[in-house]
Amino acid sequence: MQGGDQSARADPRERTAAAARAHEQGLAVQREERRRRGAFYTPPELVEWVLDRALAGLPAGAPVLDPACGAGHFLVAAARRVGVAAVHGSDLDAEAVAIARERLAAEDPSVPPEQIAAQVVVADGLEAWAGRRFAAVVGNPPFLGQLRRRTAGQSEGSRRGLGAYTDTSAVFLHRCLDLVGDDGVVALVQPLSVLAARDAGPVRAAVAERGAITDFWCSPRPVFDGTPVLTCVPVVRVGAGPATDPDDWGALAAPSFGIPDTHLPARSGVVGDLATCTADFRDQYYGLVPFVHDDPAGTPLVTSGLIDPAELRWGSAPTRFARQPYDAPSVDLAALRADGRLAGWADARLVPKLLVAAQGRVVEAVVDEAGAWLPSVPVLSVVPHDPADLWRLLAVTLAPPVVAHAAARYLGTGLTPGSVKVSARQLAALPLPADGTAWAEGAGLAQRAQRAAGADRTELLLETARVMTAAYRGSREVLAWWSHRGLATQLPESS
Ligand SMILES: C[S@@+](CC[C@H](N)C(=O)[O-])C[C@H]1O[C@@H](n2cnc3c(N)ncnc32)[C@H](O)[C@@H]1O
Repeated sequence: MQGGDQSARADPRERTAAAARAHEQGLAVQREERRRRGAFYTPPELVEWVLDRALAGLPAGAPVLDPACGAGHFLVAAARRVGVAAVHGSDLDAEAVAIARERLAAEDPSVPPEQIAAQVVVADGLEAWAGRRFAAVVGNPPFLGQLRRRTAGQSEGSRRGLGAYTDTSAVFLHRCLDLVGDDGVVALVQPLSVLAARDAGPVRAAVAERGAITDFWCSPRPVFDGTPVLTCVPVVRVGAGPATDPDDWGALAAPSFGIPDTHLPARSGVVGDLATCTADFRDQYYGLVPFVHDDPAGTPLVTSGLIDPAELRWGSAPTRFARQPYDAPSVDLAALRADGRLAGWADARLVPKLLVAAQGRVVEAVVDEAGAWLPSVPVLSVVPHDPADLWRLLAVTLAPPVVAHAAARYLGTGLTPGSVKVSARQLAALPLPADGTAWAEGAGLAQRAQRAAGADRTELLLETARVMTAAYRGSREVLAWWSHRGLATQLPESS
């Protein structure tokens, strides 16, 4: 008899779980609708990983919330730990909410359906639950760049005093910090960009103010069906310490991406102490278009693709600028000056400097000793206060501990997670080495590397990297990591 009871009880659970799958598959077919709602559902193993941390030690009956619950994957799994009467959820999708309610009813038929309906509601998760306190908030809120979410009114981000471009998922994280009491846990799936995106900065700062990340999950591969977005889960415990540095969340994910651990104290100063780091923008990009032509004897226009570590491939490799192919893109300086609009800009850039590709497998920079080249957006210019520092700065960009530090710190902001992306501001914040003697040696080697060619240059680059690893007291592991990545850029097919 008892066995019969159990299978009868198992049936509604299976039936309602199937309804959830059917609902999700329906959404998967309506790809546009799914993207609009940000409805990509969480794999069961990840749900269990989150609950193992967020609900650890919670007694039955401890209140738990999923503010964007969809068809209830987190709610059902949480109900098996704290009881159906303790789980709460909201979603804008009424059909998904109906399925979540049915699944919970099937989990425990003793809880009245009206009670479940009051706990799991069709509502905006950013608005509902004001004044409530939960022991844990879990889930996988929608990832929607605010540009797509902005309607006639204000975006959620601006409503909460965050940047207008803050992803909805980070706005949910911010909101949910208010919905747990002391020692409560917020564990929400986030896009990897939350680690370093500038617009998520205030959310990371709020996490540091309120508690600490006590566990962290991330995957170097996509785990959600139907989207290539990489994800992570920072498990935030309110009231816990020590606070997680809002500028260093990337370090949490670095091991998953094979980036060696580097702790670089900024005691010896930063690049910004020696040089001004600048990015150019659309005015320069579009302003240059009428003045650029192919001319191997002209003033080189340097695109990111032409910069390799300590090497400029201008004139020896083809490139593109403003959607046109060029063999040797050059700026007609006479015409540019006659026009006047970018004359001041060109004069400011035509000085001894370092040009840095904004993104690459390693930090890619080259010295323009004569001050004869112009950067094309998004190439960064590093102009030393004293030109004697040019090669020392190049050596810093070739230092494996610096590159690993940048790769970890700015993880998730690049086009591909494997690439190292730096902005002008981030470049200025890169630390200088503690060991001045090794640094001077590295600068000499970097200079020789840029002047050499072929195998000699590769040898000298490796030697520079070895000496600069020592200058930062870095490990052999970080040197090996850089060599693997740095030398891959020497192959002709990558740029
Ligand atoms: C990525 S799905 C996650 C569903 C569920 N948490 C899971 O992991 O399977 C995101 C859900 O957020 C819902 N959603 C979008 N905007 C919302 C909002 N402002 N408030 C509540 N739910 C929202 C969508 O309808 C969708 O069901």
